[in-house]
Amino acid sequence: MTESIVTMKQIHYAYEYKEVLTNINFEIPRGAFMGLVGPNGGGKTTLIRLILGLQKPDHGSISLFDKSIDKFKEWNQIGFVSQKSNTFNKGFPATVFEVVSMGLTAKVGYLKFLTKHHKEKISQAIDQVGMSEYAHQNIGNLSGGQQQRVFIARSLVNNPKLLILDEPTVGVDNDNVQRFYKLLHQLNNKQNITLLLVTHDTGIITEHATDIVCLNRTLHFHGDPKEYTSLTNRDLSQIYGHAVSIVSHDH
Ligand SMILES: Nc1ncnc2c1ncn2[C@@H]1O[C@H](COP(=O)(O)OP(=O)(O)OP(=O)(O)O)[C@@H](O)[C@H]1O
Ligand SMILES: [Mg+2]
Repeated sequence: MTESIVTMKQIHYAYEYKEVLTNINFEIPRGAFMGLVGPNGGGKTTLIRLILGLQKPDHGSISLFDKSIDKFKEWNQIGFVSQKSNTFNKGFPATVFEVVSMGLTAKVGYLKFLTKHHKEKISQAIDQVGMSEYAHQNIGNLSGGQQQRVFIARSLVNNPKLLILDEPTVGVDNDNVQRFYKLLHQLNNKQNITLLLVTHDTGIITEHATDIVCLNRTLHFHGDPKEYTSLTNRDLSQIYGHAVSIVSHDH
């Protein structure tokens, strides 16, 4: 039987009186690379906050790793790279190594208490995202795409089984976006990390994801990426509320 990493049943959620999620039902099976797309304000970040237990649904149930979210305690199995993590200013006084160590220091205390084993884990995570040569550089001096790799490394130090990324490629140039998707592909395929990725880049995500979910308050589509790309412009503009089409990217 395929284990379900996330299950949402009949989820409703409102900020004060404005319902932003209506009757959401979906499942992320183990091993999936799920692309979550939809217009601005469609409720994608809210949906993620519900999965992370940061907000509670008004109605419906959420299970993580086949366990009700109320009983779920293994939060280190879930890594998260937020929509706003890309905000280190130039000169921010921390190296790549230190930023990645923050993924662990939440558990083990200050940096000076890190054991050799912890330091190895940190170096390994930095290596996994291809940033070893920058390990002792200041995070603020790296490009947006490099910083995003570092944030992924920070969530990899805990060996997550599910990695959630909210628009990680905003501000990253086209070449680096392609490299970034390759990295995600490796994490998904070689390390069996289940992925949930929010993006507006429907051209690229449909080339990499195993499933696409399209959210605009309610789920408008859930299925195969090929099926999503074959939606007509008319279908899409109904979902998005304005004219839209899927743009393919050159490789
Ligand atoms: N803290 C909040 N209080 C009140 N309303 C909120 C709050 N956060 C989000 N909303 C509203 O909920 C709706 C969904 O927002 P959400 O951030 O989940 O959308 P999104 O799909 O992530 O959008 P984007 O693509 O722009 O990131 C929007 O209408 C937004 O204005
Ligand atoms: Mg958002």
